[in-house]
Amino acid sequence: MTIVRNNYENIDTVLAELGIPGVDGIYLDLGVSSYQLDTAERGFTYREDAPLDMRMDQRNAETAADIVNGYSEMELYRIIRDYGEDRFAKNIAKHIVRARQEKPLETTGELIEVIKAAIPAKIRATGGHPAKRTFQAIRIELNKELEVLEHSIDKMIGLLNPGGRLSIITFHSLEDRIVKNKFKENENPCVCPPDFPVCMCGRKSRGRVVTRKPIVPTGQEIEENKRSKSSKLRVFEKS
Ligand SMILES: C[S@@+](CC[C@H](N)C(=O)[O-])C[C@H]1O[C@@H](n2cnc3c(N)ncnc32)[C@H](O)[C@@H]1O
Repeated sequence: MTIVRNNYENIDTVLAELGIPGVDGIYLDLGVSSYQLDTAERGFTYREDAPLDMRMDQRNAETAADIVNGYSEMELYRIIRDYGEDRFAKNIAKHIVRARQEKPLETTGELIEVIKAAIPAKIRATGGHPAKRTFQAIRIELNKELEVLEHSIDKMIGLLNPGGRLSIITFHSLEDRIVKNKFKENENPCVCPPDFPVCMCGRKSRGRVVTRKPIVPTGQEIEENKRSKSSKLRVFEKS
């Protein structure tokens, strides 16, 4: 076994350096790990106070604090809306910008207080943790999670041997949509109008989607491991 610490988007150069021309299987288990969530200093959790970090790879220079203190109100609004799907995105962005004018936000605790103040008390009492969606948004933006996933799937399918499989576990709808669409595109990439008698675009299928519907955890698995709740597994097989 050879362990390589690298961003998975660099899988092509890593395999080339190892002299491996093709592989039989690639498996991505996306998102953050339980270890990272449970290590407060990594700054991923909204359950403890820690520096605003959230880097998947601590060799990278930019941290969550740079986004929280450096992005414009409009940019913060966009990421909290699109990546957090938080209906109070606009207000949260406004509160962040107002708070950081007094003093830069440095810890998860400080950010949580600002988020709480931006959400109506009634909702705060009933919904999940008020910071959950904003934390997800900042994490996705910082680590460019959706761009990396989107760019890597075609590349990975290209690296599979015939009959090889790419399996991906996602943890939220934004990731799952990318995997679903990219797999579909690779199965049927033809862009000819449906009334063309034969394909003129010349785009050939690269394989088939093995999982018509994603594989999801059973009730028992969710009971044993709460963090598996939102996971979905999709598999593509190269022809
Ligand atoms: C859900 S966890 C994997 C857990 C692991 N399968 C286990 O059972 O312990 C996802 C891991 O992928 C890492 N990760 C996230 N994005 C990455 C990327 N672009 N390249 C490489 N690793 C990444 C995270 O840092 C995290 O450690």
